[in-house]
Amino acid sequence: MNRTPPSDPSQVALRTLLAQVRAYIEYQQSSGVEAFPRTTGSVFPVAVSPVAGSGHAVPVQASASQAAPSPGTPQSAPPHTATHVAPVATDLFVLPGVQQAGTLGALREEIGDCRRCKLWSGRTHIVFGVGNPQARLMFVGEGPGRDEDLQAEPFVGRAGQLLTEIITKGMKMRREDVYIANVIKCRPPQNRNPEPDEIAACQPFLLRQIELIRPQVLVALGTFAAQTLLGSRVPISRLRGHWYDYHGVKLMPTLHPAYLLRNPNDKKLVWADIKMVLSELER
Ligand code: URA
Repeated sequence: MNRTPPSDPSQVALRTLLAQVRAYIEYQQSSGVEAFPRTTGSVFPVAVSPVAGSGHAVPVQASASQAAPSPGTPQSAPPHTATHVAPVATDLFVLPGVQQAGTLGALREEIGDCRRCKLWSGRTHIVFGVGNPQARLMFVGEGPGRDEDLQAEPFVGRAGQLLTEIITKGMKMRREDVYIANVIKCRPPQNRNPEPDEIAACQPFLLRQIELIRPQVLVALGTFAAQTLLGSRVPISRLRGHWYDYHGVKLMPTLHPAYLLRNPNDKKLVWADIKMVLSELER
């Protein structure tokens, strides 16, 4: 089989979708499901609503007959959109138990001693998330590194220290007042990039975390978080600095703190994004 990573965005989107379908079917089979209904509901109670130009994220009631626009539609038009934004098939992410989890604790229990993807064998801990379950501000990173894997808490290593400084010194907030999670909840070997099947296996849990917390603002840290949440392959350098509507929640992609450790000159870009987030939180 050809394992060369595709460069064409539509090929990437197709491969990701196939990996998601595969992970979903395997998970259902491992749960004893032998057949699938012709239609399913959506994991979110609201449809994705692009509100171009309004500056507001407006939840829209989902209806079975309504075709939801793609997640990740920017609210102020950056110089890219439709051709790069792949739709996320949220219907695939309806998992038994996840929808019924009414609290973060119940959701963590649903994850259990997870073996839904291959990352379980190398992890020390599942890194679920940390912070205020009613946070108005939620950060989503890529995945645990060594320190996070050992301590079972996201963003506690060097990149985490920088994120904590952004929150406490830059935003004048307390780390415990925000919520911090990752796209994938187990550390990849040698901190390699998460693979599509791993992202797909974890995605229902991240979506439900966001749904339960329902923050006013989501900040996607770095390429993987931004591209996963937006169903996009547009580079983070182009996604950042613009507002997106994520299922009725305002989403700001920005650069990852680990990138900033290597490129401190770009801290000013993150500060510009964070100032937009602060303005939104003050509204
Ligand atoms: N980088 C991430 O994306 N997440 C963490 O939890 C730590 C480092």
